[in-house]
Formats: sequence, structure tokens, C-alpha cells
Amino acid sequence: MTLNANWSYPTAIRFGAGRISEIADACFVASIKKPLLVTDRGLAGMEITQKTLNLLDDAGLGRAIFSDVDPNPNEKNAAAGVAAYKAGNHDGVIAFGGGSGLDLGKVVAFLAGQSRPIWDFEDIDDWWTRANSDVIAPIVAIPTTAGTGSEVGRASVITNSITQQKKIIFHPKFLPTVVICDPELTVGMPKFITAGTGLDAFAHCVEAYCSPHYHPMSQGMALEGMRLVKEYLPRAYSDAKDLEARSHMMSAAAMGATAFQKGLGAIHALSHPIGAIYHTHHGTTNAVCMPAVLQFNKPAIKDTLAEAANYLGIPGGFVGFCKFVDELNDSLAIPKSLAGLGIENPDIDRIVSGALIDPSTGGNPIKMTEENTRKLIIEIS
Ligand SMILES: [Fe+2]
Repeated sequence: MTLNANWSYPTAIRFGAGRISEIADACFVASIKKPLLVTDRGLAGMEITQKTLNLLDDAGLGRAIFSDVDPNPNEKNAAAGVAAYKAGNHDGVIAFGGGSGLDLGKVVAFLAGQSRPIWDFEDIDDWWTRANSDVIAPIVAIPTTAGTGSEVGRASVITNSITQQKKIIFHPKFLPTVVICDPELTVGMPKFITAGTGLDAFAHCVEAYCSPHYHPMSQGMALEGMRLVKEYLPRAYSDAKDLEARSHMMSAAAMGATAFQKGLGAIHALSHPIGAIYHTHHGTTNAVCMPAVLQFNKPAIKDTLAEAANYLGIPGGFVGFCKFVDELNDSLAIPKSLAGLGIENPDIDRIVSGALIDPSTGGNPIKMTEENTRKLIIEIS
């Protein structure tokens, strides 16, 4: 089977190894003549980024880059990005990277033409309708990890640098016009990033699958996404150059993010405040939280996850699924607790209050309360 295709769901996706070479055409299709490539500081100097800038330059599109982006991007990064976008007179954004580069790139394209502050567009009720949608710049998104799936998402996670809370900024036009999924870009990822990002994709699939909301399309996608992670994450982890495994993980990432339109849950509700306060890796934090959250949700998800286990070829129903998660985490060197992540005395009160106001909380199959959430965090500590 050739792992190369063009998809139009949920947006136009050019999938396949080496397809970064189509970046100039992707810009043309998105009507971008003067792009600003937005990525994080770590990626800015890497070969894949320089090669991408060369491709743009060769096509007469310039080589403008903005990379003042923190691992958990905040409103200051967004303001600086918008200033660079305006100063360079750009007409579109290439969002390039893992979650931080993609999320910030999307926000820059969105905010550049708006007159209201970023927090006015938080994903609450219909706040997104406050935006002037006619002036949102087009976006080409290029993931360089396989986890966040932000390249197919209609939101960005931005940390409020004053309150240290992660906020979701939403608008339907955050969805990039063209996505290039080139698994070759993920070949150089360090092992722990391969593990953490891959388990973020897995958490998206598991939480979407377990969420009680009605969305059968997402349900099917989440299930197959889990299967791809089960089959291919161990391979991508043990052999960084396994391009078939990297390809399937890149699909799983896009599938997880598409599926979580159905909802997320306690894993992300906990991981968001933990990451915002302690700057831990998002996907790795999810993986640490997952075993305890599965037990927490057991009364509501026992039968559903038994069905998933069946599909995945895991014996033993719900118990078997949980055992599989423990073994997967162990094989990918995921710590078993927050202490293992380097958080010795977590501020439980702050994590509880952050979790209870996190939008992911609403998708958890068991109602999260002050009392049960506190117990859950103590267990994970
Ligand atoms: Fe996530």
C-alpha cells in the first residue's frame, strides 16, 4: 500500500513522505503570496525548517520566519507574532511545528486583523462570533510531530501568562486551508518527544471515544486512531527512521484531533493546569494521568472500553485495556506519577480549581467535583 494521498476531510490534506516540496503550491492554493512561517525557537535552527525556508525562497515567496514562541505559547508570543506579521506586510501564515508552533501560527493569522484582545475569543458560548471573520488570514499548516493534531483543529491552546491558565481560543476559520502531512519531517524527533506526542494522540482518541456526547463519525475515527497508535507507536519509538510507522502515527494524530470534536475529559482537564503551572510536556503529562483517570471513569466506560479492547485485539475487556495502557506507558519510559515528572509538591488546590474550569471537564463521562478531582490528583501525585 502506498502511504501517499490527497484528502479533503476535515480540510485539504496532502499526505505523504517528501510532500513538503509542495509548500509553494499549497501557498498558491491558499492565496498566500507573502507568508510568515511561525514556529518555535527550538525548530527555527533545525535543518527541516531551513530546507522549508529554502523551498519558499526558491519559489519567490521569501523566507520570513517568526520563532519567538514558548513551549506553552502565551498572549505575549501572540502579540509579538502579530507585530512581526504586520511589520512584514504578510498575507498569510505557515504554521510549522509541534503544538506550540501550530497553535501560535493559527492565532497570529486570526488576530492580525482583529481589534479586540485575544481573551475575548476564548471558547465560551458563541464568543467566536465577536471576530471579524472577513479579515482572518489564510493558514497553511505543517506538523513536525505526530500528536497534537492541531493542523486539523479549529482552536489553539494559549496560556495566560498572568494567571498561568491554559485557554482555548476558537474560531471555525482557524482550520487551515491546506495541510501538508509529511512524515519525513518527524524522523528526527527525540525518543521522549515521539513517546509524549504519540500518547497525546492516543489520549485524544481514548477521551473522544469515552465522551458521552453523540458523534458516531468521531467514535469510529477514535477507535481506528487507537489501533494505529497501538500498532505503530512502539515501532516509531524503537526505530526513529521507520517511515511506515511515522506515517501511520501522523494519521493517528490528525484523527485524534478530529475525533475530539466529540469531547475530551479528565486527562486533559488535569493535564492543562499541570502543564500551565509546571511547564511539563503536554502529551507526557496526559500519559501519566491516563491510568488513574481510566479507573476514575470505570463505572461509566467499562463496557465501552471493553468493546474498544475487542477491536484492538486486547484480551480481558476493560481490565485488559487498562493493563495494555500500563504496559504501553512502561515500554515508552513514561513516569508513573507527577513526582516522576519532576513535580515534588504539587499545588493541589490550584490544579483542582484549574481542572474544574477547564473546557475538557464537560466531556468527562463521570461528573468531576471538587472532592473527586482532589482525590484523583492526590492519587496521581
Ligand atoms: Fe492533547
